[in-house]
Amino acid sequence: MNAGQNSNEMNQTSVGRDLYARDLLLGYAILAPSCYNTQPWKFAADDKEIKIFADEARWLKVADADQRELYISIACALENLLIAAEHFGYSHRVSHSEDEKAVVVQIGFSGKSSTFRGQELFEAIKIRHTNRKRYQIRPIPSETLALLQDVCIEDGIMIKMAEDEETKEKMSDLVSQANALMFSNPAFRKELGHWYGQGAFGSPLLISKICQMLITQFDLGKLQAKNDSKTLMSASVLAMVCSEKNERSTQVQAGQVFERIWLKATALGISLQPMTQVLRVPDLKKEAASLFSCSDDYPQQIFRLGYA
Ligand SMILES: Cc1cc2nc3c(=O)[nH]c(=O)nc-3n(C[C@H](O)[C@H](O)[C@H](O)COP(=O)(O)O)c2cc1C
Repeated sequence: MNAGQNSNEMNQTSVGRDLYARDLLLGYAILAPSCYNTQPWKFAADDKEIKIFADEARWLKVADADQRELYISIACALENLLIAAEHFGYSHRVSHSEDEKAVVVQIGFSGKSSTFRGQELFEAIKIRHTNRKRYQIRPIPSETLALLQDVCIEDGIMIKMAEDEETKEKMSDLVSQANALMFSNPAFRKELGHWYGQGAFGSPLLISKICQMLITQFDLGKLQAKNDSKTLMSASVLAMVCSEKNERSTQVQAGQVFERIWLKATALGISLQPMTQVLRVPDLKKEAASLFSCSDDYPQQIFRLGYA
């Protein structure tokens, strides 16, 4: 065996190792939350970089006309990927390709990794889930809320929180109005029904198909509003991630912060449910922004927190 053969074998080994690592990271990325569980992402990867694209075939054209939720979902997958990269000791550099409409993550398999994203976030990736139940009437201690706030280090991204009954009641009213408007639109019901029918919300196939039929045929807005109001009022905290700008790259950063809070909350034993309804109706979105004193900023995601 000569020296050339040796280095060739080493290259093959390192390429094999890097491809394995890449697949490992993608395995964590796809555990991210997404609107209606559409998982609207596509990946293109080689042994140096991973590109994440919006899968427009999975875009909610009616509910998410401006694609905000699409990019927040992609950002959640991106954040999982970065958390996993740091856990396995890989360096990363994120850039945004406007031409390709992609988020590009360059992965360094031998560079020095950042350690900003803690081990508890990595461990939470596999257990994070959406909790739609009513939460216990129990406050979240202020020092715990401070830990959640600390996950946001991005300039121009803010996490606003409200615990008072008045804000919850006003938000509940906005959610009811949003439900009434959306469910009165047959195109919205058809789209929601379609994803129910695909089993996107985790129900067995027969139940999913029955839900699809009911949602598509009937305006269940009042029923949904009643349920949303009860769950919302049971929250210990209502929160909003908002941003100073509204560019795609900013929305992606806001989504990364949202996923980081969700994982941190999971690690702290706190449940979370995104509550997106209000953000789908422009006038109500403005009212929600003013409720959280961020009328000059852009609301990117609303959610509730509490102990289940
Ligand atoms: C951008 C975005 C918006 C969402 N909006 C809502 C919502 O309004 N109500 C809700 O119950 N869940 C919402 N979800 C949660 C998804 O439905 C959930 O992530 C998906 O069904 C997968 O389930 P899991 O989070 O338990 O893994 C949202 C998730 C994302 C990323």
